[in-house]
Amino acid sequence: MTAHTLDDRVALITGAGSGIGRAMAVTFAKAGARVVVCDIDADGAARTAADIGDAALPATADIGDEASVTALVETAISAYGRIDVLCNNAGIMDTMALPAEIPLALWERVLRVNLTGTFLVTHAVLPHMLRQGRGAIVNTASEAAVRGGAAGAAYTASKHGVAGLTRSVAWAHAKDGIRCNAILPGPTMTGIATAASFDPTGAARLAPVLALGERIAQPEQMADAALFLASDAASFINGALVPVDGGWSAA
Ligand SMILES: NC(=O)c1ccc[n+]([C@@H]2O[C@H](COP(=O)([O-])OP(=O)(O)OC[C@H]3O[C@@H](n4cnc5c(N)ncnc54)[C@H](O)[C@@H]3O)[C@@H](O)[C@H]2O)c1
Repeated sequence: MTAHTLDDRVALITGAGSGIGRAMAVTFAKAGARVVVCDIDADGAARTAADIGDAALPATADIGDEASVTALVETAISAYGRIDVLCNNAGIMDTMALPAEIPLALWERVLRVNLTGTFLVTHAVLPHMLRQGRGAIVNTASEAAVRGGAAGAAYTASKHGVAGLTRSVAWAHAKDGIRCNAILPGPTMTGIATAASFDPTGAARLAPVLALGERIAQPEQMADAALFLASDAASFINGALVPVDGGWSAA
């Protein structure tokens, strides 16, 4: 049996300054990885990296900005020389606004971070994985990647896009030794929803669906699933969208 270890691996994790990304960084470091802790929030990245210690490198970047992503990947490569694991985890919520109500600026920001950001980091890291002949990418999608009623219009569309990108990368690079999978978290105890003031119509419409998420996950439960997918224990799993929701989506 292959262990869930990341010994001698270098992992780049976005959105690692808090929540699920922070738990991934801590969990991956415990599994033996050196971790590039990326976040747009410099203080958050610094805090996670300080808690991990020598195996972590904090890096401030906006994944929605191409120049920032280029600098991020250069920082990772000049520090460690390789990137074995990429977790595209950074993301933002919409306000639960329904399609007729969402302002264009909010639509564009959510798509820019959640989908284009995931693409930009993947696009910048793939050449290094191709050179190495090895790589594992784990995207943090959502139950909203496969359902129409788990969030607002922009978040739902962006996460459906992440699911499509996951399968596209998996299909395109299966012969290159590169795997790409996604976790689909159900409701998880993080700060992502606390900042958004919810659109009342959308929130009311989604209330019965969200109430199905009776059990709220801890970020570490997402990190454990991501660790499995990133490790050689998942060596033949490629292009999978893995629900991590305690059975919420099975209803
Ligand atoms: N918490 C949930 O219930 C839940 C459910 C399904 C999916 N998710 C997904 O999990 C991922 C992590 O979210 P979380 O719940 O840990 O929330 P979180 O807000 O705690 O963490 C998200 C992190 O991403 C960072 N970030 C935001 N925009 C960024 C950008 N442009 N560039 C770099 N970093 C950026 C934030 O500063 C933050 O530290 C997201 O993709 C989210 O959509 C969360």
